[in-house]
Amino acid sequence: MTTQTQTAVIDQLSKHRTVRFFKDEPVSDDVVHTILNAARQSPTSSNRQTYSIMVVRNPETKKKLAVLAGNQKHVETCPVFFAFCADLSRLDVACEMHGEKHVKGLESTLVSTVDAALVGMSVNTAVESLGMGAVMIGGMRNHPKQVAELLGFPNGVYVVFGMCIGWPEWDKVPNVKPRLDESVIIHHEQYNTSSPVPQIEAYNQTMADYYGKERNLHESAWSGPLANQLKSPRRENLRSELESLGFVFK
Ligand SMILES: Cc1cc2nc3c(=O)[nH]c(=O)nc-3n(C[C@H](O)[C@H](O)[C@H](O)COP(=O)(O)O)c2cc1C
Repeated sequence: MTTQTQTAVIDQLSKHRTVRFFKDEPVSDDVVHTILNAARQSPTSSNRQTYSIMVVRNPETKKKLAVLAGNQKHVETCPVFFAFCADLSRLDVACEMHGEKHVKGLESTLVSTVDAALVGMSVNTAVESLGMGAVMIGGMRNHPKQVAELLGFPNGVYVVFGMCIGWPEWDKVPNVKPRLDESVIIHHEQYNTSSPVPQIEAYNQTMADYYGKERNLHESAWSGPLANQLKSPRRENLRSELESLGFVFK
């Protein structure tokens, strides 16, 4: 028996594109509910379900979140904004119900962050399956405390990333973005430790062509801008702010 490899899901994943421009068309509560309820079936570590999803439609709140995310206009203009939160607060209660204290550590920080990320990707997949579009917003980690305050979080909750969803303005959506060669990403049995320089150079050229065609930005090849970005630390406030929100890093 041969395995069917051309499924609708595989086709959709292969064509993924981030969408940052949305039509001025509403997204119904029914659609939101369907997407989130399907995504909630995502696996979680030990079935702990240490995440929460915030649904934000209020224009004032979106405006404030857009500023906190570094003035990302799409956070304000999208019809619906989700925030995927690592959430340890429910387990505090579950432990209390049995007279126990929830002892947190780096592991619970990672578990809850991974749980939130996995459900977020499931939401992305569900959104795209409906012909809608999404952009994830890591900018939610610029000011975790202010975001937590704005959204009324109890202790033990932070936004791992957000997501704008809506009906795409397709003429403003870039073509499918090429990826690094699979030989540097996928390893069989043993990690391939040979230098990735040739593949990075090839990818720089691919990305220069991609941006050239898309936006006429030939200088925006891949490794140069990243090296420029990574030469200094980012979000130096992150650890202390997440600690103040109840997350532990040891
Ligand atoms: C966790 C995460 C956070 C992201 N944060 C942002 C963001 O804050 N703003 C933005 O415009 N795009 C953001 N992106 C989108 C990426 O820039 C995008 O996925 C990447 O450039 C690849 O492009 P593609 O998704 O169209 O293939 C984020 C993506 C991920 C996975």
